[in-house]
Amino acid sequence: MAIGDEVLNQFTQAVDEPEVVFDGKKLKVGIIGTGWIAESHIESYKRMPDVEIVAAADLIPGKAEAFMKRYGVEGVRFYPSHKEMIDSEELDAVSVCTYNTAHAVPTIYALEHGVNVLLEKPFTVTTEEAVQVMRAEKKSGKVLSIGFQPRGDENMQMIKKIVDSGVLGKIYYIQTGGGRRRGIPNSTFIEKSTGGIGALGDIGCYSLDVVLNAIGYPKPLTVSGYKSAFFGTNPKYATPDRFHTAEENAKRFSVDDFAAAFVRMEGDIILDFRIAWAMHPDTSGDTIIYGTEGALRIPSTECWNGTFDKPMTLYHDVAGSQVETTIPLIPHRGPGLFDIKIRGFLDAVKNGTPAPVPTSQILYNQAIIDGICKSAELGHEIEIEIPEI
Ligand SMILES: NC(=O)c1ccc[n+]([C@@H]2O[C@H](COP(=O)([O-])OP(=O)(O)OC[C@H]3O[C@@H](n4cnc5c(N)ncnc54)[C@H](O)[C@@H]3O)[C@@H](O)[C@H]2O)c1
Repeated sequence: MAIGDEVLNQFTQAVDEPEVVFDGKKLKVGIIGTGWIAESHIESYKRMPDVEIVAAADLIPGKAEAFMKRYGVEGVRFYPSHKEMIDSEELDAVSVCTYNTAHAVPTIYALEHGVNVLLEKPFTVTTEEAVQVMRAEKKSGKVLSIGFQPRGDENMQMIKKIVDSGVLGKIYYIQTGGGRRRGIPNSTFIEKSTGGIGALGDIGCYSLDVVLNAIGYPKPLTVSGYKSAFFGTNPKYATPDRFHTAEENAKRFSVDDFAAAFVRMEGDIILDFRIAWAMHPDTSGDTIIYGTEGALRIPSTECWNGTFDKPMTLYHDVAGSQVETTIPLIPHRGPGLFDIKIRGFLDAVKNGTPAPVPTSQILYNQAIIDGICKSAELGHEIEIEIPEI
C-alpha cells in the first residue's frame, strides 16, 4: 500500500442510490415557467411513478401548452401566470422555473397557499428577497428546496467528505470560482429586468455552493467585490441567437459577465472568488481549500453539471514527508443529477423531512452574491447584513 492509500480509502466508499417508494397516492405537481430549465424538470417528473403533472403556467401565451405537447404530457391545465394556477389548483408541489427576477414572488405565493416548492437556482437576486421568501417558508411549514443538482454528484460529495474527515485540519483560506473563455448565454439571462445578475447568478452560485457546503456554510461577514461587463456589451464577443444579432444582444446586455471578491467569513475563513462568462485566460484557476493539516485542489470546473474532468489532489504530511494523494474520479452511477434533485425534493415533501438543499444555507450564498454587487457598486468593502428571518 502506497503512502496515502489509507487516507484515500476513507473517501471511496459506495454511494447509495435513492430509493423510490410509491404508496399509491400521486403528488399533484405544477410547473411555473416553461422555458429552458423546465425541460429538465419535466423529464425527471415524468420518470417519477408517484407524480402527476396537473398544471403549468407561463406568462407567454401558448408557451406552456406547446411545452407539454412537446413532452407528451396530457390532461394538464394551463394558466397565464403562477397566481391563477395556484388559486385554481390543489397542488402538492410546484417547480419554480422562472427567470431570476421572478423567483421570489411565485415562491412566496405558493408557500402562502400551502404548496411545497422546488425553486431553481440562484435562490433570488437580492438578500432582501431571499429573506422575504424564508419568512413565508417559515410561516408555511412547507418544504422549499433550492435547485443545486451538483449536490447529487459523488465527486462533489467527496469534497465534503474529505473536509469532514478532518484530514485538512482547520480551514483558513479558499480560492474558488470558475469561468469560460467564451460562454455568454443569451435569452433572459443577459438582461437586468429578467436575469438580475449575470455570471454570478448563473454559475457563480454553484462555485460558492461547492466549497461553502463542504465547510458547513459559515456566515459571511464582509465582502470587497468587483464586477464588470466588458465582453457581453461588446458586439465582438456577444453572441447572436435565434431572435437577436450579436449587436442587439450586446445592447441588451445589462448584467455582470465577470465578478471577483474577497470575503471574510465566521471562523476566520477567507474566500477568494472569481467567476466569468467570458475572459481571455483559459481558466480562472483551480479551487484550493487550504487547511492547517492539508490542502485540497479541485480542478477548475463550472460546477453546474457536477463534474470536473481531472482527479482532485490532497496535499498533506505523512510521517514527516510531504505527500500528494490523488483522489480518483468516481464514475457517475445510478440516476442522473436532475432525477436525484427532483427525487430528493419529492421525498422531503412526502416524508415531511428537511429540504435537501435548505434555504438556511443558500441564504449565505445569496448574501455573498448580493454583497459582491453592492460592494462593487459602492467601490469599497462592505459588511454583509442579513436580517432576522
Ligand atoms: N439548474 C440548472 O442547471 C439551470 C440551468 C439553466 C437555468 N437555470 C435557472 O432556471 C431559471 C430559468 O431559466 P430558463 O433558462 O429556463 O429561463 P427562460 O427565460 O427560458 O424561462 C423562464 C420562463 O418563466 C416564465 N415566467 C416568468 N415569470 C412567470 C410567472 N410569474 N408565472 C409563470 N411564468 C413565468 C417566462 O415567461 C419564461 O417562459 C433561472 O433562474 C436559471 O438560473 C438552472
